[in-house]
Amino acid sequence: MARRMLCITISLYCLFIAHAQIFDITTYGAKPGGADISQPLNRILRSACDSSTPSTILIPKGKFILKEAYLKGPCKAPHIALTNQGSVIALPEPTSVKKNNEWIMIQYVDHLTINGNGVYDGVGAKSWALNKEHCWNSTQCNQFPNNFGLHNLKHLTVRDITSKDAKSFHFIVSDAQNATFQNLKVTAPGNSPNTDGIHIGKSRQVTIMDSSFKTGDDCVSIGDDTKGVNITRISCGPGHGISVGSLGKYNDEKPVVGVWVTNSNLSNTMNGVRIKTWAYSQPNEASNMHFENIRMDNVGNPINIDQLYCPSGGCNMNMPSRVKLNKISFKGITGTSSTPVAVNLVCSSTFPCQGVEIGNIDLKFKGGAAQFVCSNARPAFSGKQNPKINCR
Ligand SMILES: *[C@@H]1O[C@H](CO)[C@@H](O)[C@H](O)[C@H]1NC(C)=O
Ligand SMILES: *[C@@H]1O[C@H](CO)[C@@H](O)[C@H](O)[C@H]1NC(C)=O
Ligand SMILES: *[C@@H]1O[C@H](CO)[C@@H](O)[C@H](O)[C@H]1NC(C)=O
Ligand SMILES: *[C@@H]1O[C@H](CO)[C@@H](O)[C@H](O)[C@H]1NC(C)=O
Repeated sequence: MARRMLCITISLYCLFIAHAQIFDITTYGAKPGGADISQPLNRILRSACDSSTPSTILIPKGKFILKEAYLKGPCKAPHIALTNQGSVIALPEPTSVKKNNEWIMIQYVDHLTINGNGVYDGVGAKSWALNKEHCWNSTQCNQFPNNFGLHNLKHLTVRDITSKDAKSFHFIVSDAQNATFQNLKVTAPGNSPNTDGIHIGKSRQVTIMDSSFKTGDDCVSIGDDTKGVNITRISCGPGHGISVGSLGKYNDEKPVVGVWVTNSNLSNTMNGVRIKTWAYSQPNEASNMHFENIRMDNVGNPINIDQLYCPSGGCNMNMPSRVKLNKISFKGITGTSSTPVAVNLVCSSTFPCQGVEIGNIDLKFKGGAAQFVCSNARPAFSGKQNPKINCR
């Protein structure tokens, strides 16, 4: 008998550790349509992190007001899910987030999943109004909070959520290792300043797939010290396109290595797929970047390497970029350009681009023949080229 009891006790215990513990925020004092849920949510994030079992923080259907959320690991829980099935809504004031630069900031957590088919609404309009004037030169933006700051995370999954109307960026990802973004909807008006979709920096192994980005700035941008980014089956537009860079602004930057952008669509974006490095830059390098099977619909400079990047002016344009670019391919890029220059390959005169490959491109410009610019590059060509590029 005693032995049997023990057995049952043990199997219950096993059951307990095998199943995720669920922290439903409404059982901890959060009310839909009610007051700010920051206190209960932050408390639950802490408890979920300190729990020794896999833990799910559940935000059920309903509208919840959130001023800010913050979690810093390391966590005891082997896995944490933040499952939002409702709408989480920020306060509209540009200065409403007090503690961090991000509305929802998570650091040093391994095996985090953010999911649930819900919406995170940054309610950015008041912030955009304050940024409208100077922000097209986006280095001069006021820094308002980003929707998500995800830092120093390993084995991160963000899927099946909508990020809407961020005050600044929707997602900033830094120092990540093995992160996957899947089935996301990122939306903000095309004229909302500085509302980048996902910015990745100092990270390893990041995949973005099956997602749509409508923003007022870059859909996805990739900063320095990043290795292994795979972007596939995304749509982008409105927005400023997909970029690597800008690189070479700071003197301690590290290389970007391995970027694949494939099977994606850009429409009505200011730029297409772009690699940008500052004129008069600090040294750095970027290599192994491939853009393949991309449809362009009314896109400015669909193919663009710009090593004289200087959006706000005031750079010494006689000092070429010291960022070395190597092994870059553009293949299967088709559709329409909204600017006469469909292909812009402006490489550095100090370090000409190496290993550029152009295969099967067909880009039309409504107002006449599509044009190209090419300097300091010697591409290898294959397949069809429209425009016909000639780099001498
Ligand atoms: C990456 O993270 C995912 C999700 O957490 C996990 O299933 C996968 O095993 C990880 N891959 C590697 C190579 O660690
Ligand atoms: C990118 O990810 C997709 C989807 O997981 C995969 O099919 C593809 O092989 C990956 N590409 C690279 C270059 O890793
Ligand atoms: C890109 O556009 C084509 C043609 O309209 C469509 O079949 C495909 O599903 C789109 N892909 C994405 C990732 O939106
Ligand atoms: C940025 O500012 C400079 C100088 O103030 C101006 O010449 C340039 O046109 C601006 N760029 C954009 C994209 O508005």
